[in-house]
Amino acid sequence: MNQDELKQAVAKAALDYIRPQLESDTILGIGTGSTANYFIDGLAALRHDFDGAVASSEASAQRLKSHGIPVYDLNSVGGFEFYIDGADESNEYLQLIKGGGAALTREKIVAANAKTFICIADESKMVDILGQFPLPVEVIPMARSYVARQLVILGGDPVYREGVVTDNGNIILDVFNLQIVDPKKLELQINQLAGVICNGIFAHRPADVLLLGTSNGVKRLKAK
Ligand code: 5RP
Repeated sequence: MNQDELKQAVAKAALDYIRPQLESDTILGIGTGSTANYFIDGLAALRHDFDGAVASSEASAQRLKSHGIPVYDLNSVGGFEFYIDGADESNEYLQLIKGGGAALTREKIVAANAKTFICIADESKMVDILGQFPLPVEVIPMARSYVARQLVILGGDPVYREGVVTDNGNIILDVFNLQIVDPKKLELQINQLAGVICNGIFAHRPADVLLLGTSNGVKRLKAK
C-alpha cells in the first residue's frame, strides 16, 4: 500500500473505533490534514448518527459543512469524548509533532477538550526521537525575528514558512535540526518565549490511542 492508501486505512479504522459509541448528542473533535480529511469524508455516511463536530481549522470546518455535518463553536459545547487527528511524527509514548498544516494551536485547544485523542497516521510518522520533522511554531508576526533568535539558542534552525498565515492571523516558524529528547521540557520552554502562541509538540497532551497504518494492517497502539 502507498502512503495515501495507509492514510485511508487508518481513517476507516478510526470510524470503526468510534461508530459503536456514537449517540444522537455526540460531538466529535476533528483535526486537520490529509488523513483527517479521509476521516471527515468517511464521517459523512454517519452524519445522522451523531450531533456534530468542533473543527481545528477553517479548512476542516468547511469540509465538514460540505458533508452536511453541523460545526459548533468550541465555546458553545462542553468537553467531549473523542478528538481524531493526524500527526507529523509520533514516538512510542504517543507524544507528537503536529502543525504541518499550520493548525497546531487550534488542534491543541480542541485536543485539550477531549477525553480520548485518537491519532491516525501512516507508519512513516513513527520515530524513536521527535524532531526529524521540522517543529512548527506559531508566532505573532512582530515577534518573528526575536523568537527565531531564541530558537537558535535552543539549538534549532528556524525557517519562516513563506506565504502562510494561520487561521489566527499569525506566522509559522519551522524549526529544523532539533533532537527532542525531552519533549515535555522543550514544549514548555518554547511556549514561554514572548511572542510564541503555541508550538507543535504534543507531549503534555499526547495521543491516547494511535491507529498506525502499516503494510501489515492497522495497528492500535497505546502510550508506553
Ligand atoms: C496539521 C497537522 C496534521 O495533522 C499533520 O500535518 C499531518 O498531516 P497529514 O495527515 O496530511 O499527513 O498537524 O496542522
